[in-house]
Amino acid sequence: MTSGQGGTNPGFARGRRLRSTPAMRRWTAQTRLAPADLVLPVFVKQGISEPVPISSMPGVVQHSPESLRKAAAEAAEVGISGLMLFGIPAEKDAVGSQADAADGIVNVALQQLRADLGDELVLMADLCLCEYTDHGHCGVVTPAGVVDNDPTLDRYAAVAIAQAQAGAHVIAPSGMMDGQVAAIRAGLDSAAFTGTPILAYAAKYASGFYGPFREAAEGAPQFGDRSTYQMDPPNTDEALREVAQDIAEGADAVMVKPAGPYLDIVARVADAVDVPVSAYQVSGEYAMVEAAAANGWIDRERAVLETLTAIRRAGAGSVLTYWAVEAARWLRR
Ligand code: PBG
Repeated sequence: MTSGQGGTNPGFARGRRLRSTPAMRRWTAQTRLAPADLVLPVFVKQGISEPVPISSMPGVVQHSPESLRKAAAEAAEVGISGLMLFGIPAEKDAVGSQADAADGIVNVALQQLRADLGDELVLMADLCLCEYTDHGHCGVVTPAGVVDNDPTLDRYAAVAIAQAQAGAHVIAPSGMMDGQVAAIRAGLDSAAFTGTPILAYAAKYASGFYGPFREAAEGAPQFGDRSTYQMDPPNTDEALREVAQDIAEGADAVMVKPAGPYLDIVARVADAVDVPVSAYQVSGEYAMVEAAAANGWIDRERAVLETLTAIRRAGAGSVLTYWAVEAARWLRR
């Protein structure tokens, strides 16, 4: 009993008095969740005319260009802040040519969405090569099969320019190459996109929770894994170093990924920096809740909102989540 906390009625200490009704709980809530806190990751695939369901992510699809336009209009309607675009090309090659081809799927989609929506949503372009390379790695690889950092940076700069040209409001490099933010900033500036911000996937862990995404984006590595360029799950200080490095190179905002299993990292990063912090609730986090809810083991809406609130409580300003549009609808009613 905590009656010592300022009351004479032992059954109603301060905590309980302040949570007695929904209105009282709303009044005292320290963390708010609103549609504007959310960003929806979307997949657009070349050469399909109907959306293709992703079996490991029930409710998420690979969009056709047309179905993406509808989904984007809906996203704008419910008031979320933005979209993060991933493209899946029909043809892949060793250097990921389709990532910066003017008629590449993601660039065509960006153009279309920008024409449809103007500045209504923040259109973010994920910048990586893994969806575009035939070997599935995030950069170009040497004959020995090692990801080659510096030639990859040249590719990233070219892709950033193509995406900005196509209408992306924000460039979001996720490949975890050393020096990628500086290379992309220099590339954008050289092409007169000095006003285009970079959201760096700064603290990105080599995570088992990306499993379903690899079905969605068709970008699983054909050999090896990403443990040499993504971060090691036991480490914290490394995240702070990566974030500081990206900001020093010119990142305008930073991201922590995954979100739920890394809330301590979200909290430390949010404390350490003075730029906007995003957290990416990844495919595996989504799939776990969906699977449990489908079995009737948890209350889906309650669990989803709890995960999103927890990510905000840890200090993320905005959350990338596959539930963005649905959660925004719940929050608005
Ligand atoms: C590309 C990228 C990945 C994700 C976002 N960008 C996959 C990976 O790094 O293996 C994962 C997102 C998710 O799981 O939802 N580098």
